[in-house]
Amino acid sequence: MWSGGSMAQTRSIVEPPGLTTNRTPLIEEAQRHGEIFIQQPYELYSEENHRAWRRLFSRMDTRWERYANEHFLKGVHSLCLDPERVPKLEDVNRFLRPLTGFQARPVSGYIPAFLFFDCLRNRTFPTTITIRPSDKLDYLPEPDIFHDVAGHVPMHTDRAFAETLVRFGECAHTAAELAADIRGEQERIRRLTSIIQAMARFFWFTVEFGLMRSKDGLRVYGSGLLSSFGEIEHAIDSAEVQRYPIQIEWAINQPFEIDHYQPLLFIVDSFDHLFSLVEELGEWLKQGKLNHVAPGEPAVNERDLKSFLDRS
Ligand SMILES: [Fe+2]
Repeated sequence: MWSGGSMAQTRSIVEPPGLTTNRTPLIEEAQRHGEIFIQQPYELYSEENHRAWRRLFSRMDTRWERYANEHFLKGVHSLCLDPERVPKLEDVNRFLRPLTGFQARPVSGYIPAFLFFDCLRNRTFPTTITIRPSDKLDYLPEPDIFHDVAGHVPMHTDRAFAETLVRFGECAHTAAELAADIRGEQERIRRLTSIIQAMARFFWFTVEFGLMRSKDGLRVYGSGLLSSFGEIEHAIDSAEVQRYPIQIEWAINQPFEIDHYQPLLFIVDSFDHLFSLVEELGEWLKQGKLNHVAPGEPAVNERDLKSFLDRS
């Protein structure tokens, strides 16, 4: 026991801590002070961090070729992501901004729901800067820079997808305005909870875990799948997964769990199709059709609710 402690100490002296998930004091301090938007102190990435990126990228590369949709593959190419080193967000943005106006902005971690959607409306993607340890490539409950930059950002190079995210962000504004008109605090909170749940479920089953039709069958466009070595294959090939054409009424009423492979996935025809669905979601919101969705996951926390109430 004693010698183990001693080895760990020696290693921490030899190898700098880097910007590793759940092991970065700088991030914890920012969170303690309520700082959401931060800088990316690039020089702090350790060789261990770059090794994690390199391993993640190299094993995903062949899976992307096989399972990812064409817009994503084009996006990875357009962003000139380096397979060897953790990306510098400034460099990513230099390629991204001229294409759709989107940019990746570093954040310290969790960001309340309204603020997150509002960022999308302003073509900004809140981006985690830490990376998982190189010996834990598979399971990570928190997002990291591989999920955010290699999983999400390549999609933001596509015009129709980018417009979909902006439209989704606008829905959050509509929701906050509608909430302001509801009399009675209890009813306001109940209805807003239902609306946030509906939006979170729609986002989950499309942006995070969506499938798309293509010439050669189904392909993945959801970022949760695009950043998972195991689940990207499971999502397309496993007989255990149910895959259905998306229906808004189903997606917004379907609870989901985040700690295992998804047993149910929804298919869109194209990003134009996805955009039209978000337009429709916005209409449903105005008509009150999101006010009573099925209870269940995801839970809506107080900070998420407050972020909407403070804007209403
Ligand atoms: Fe994500």
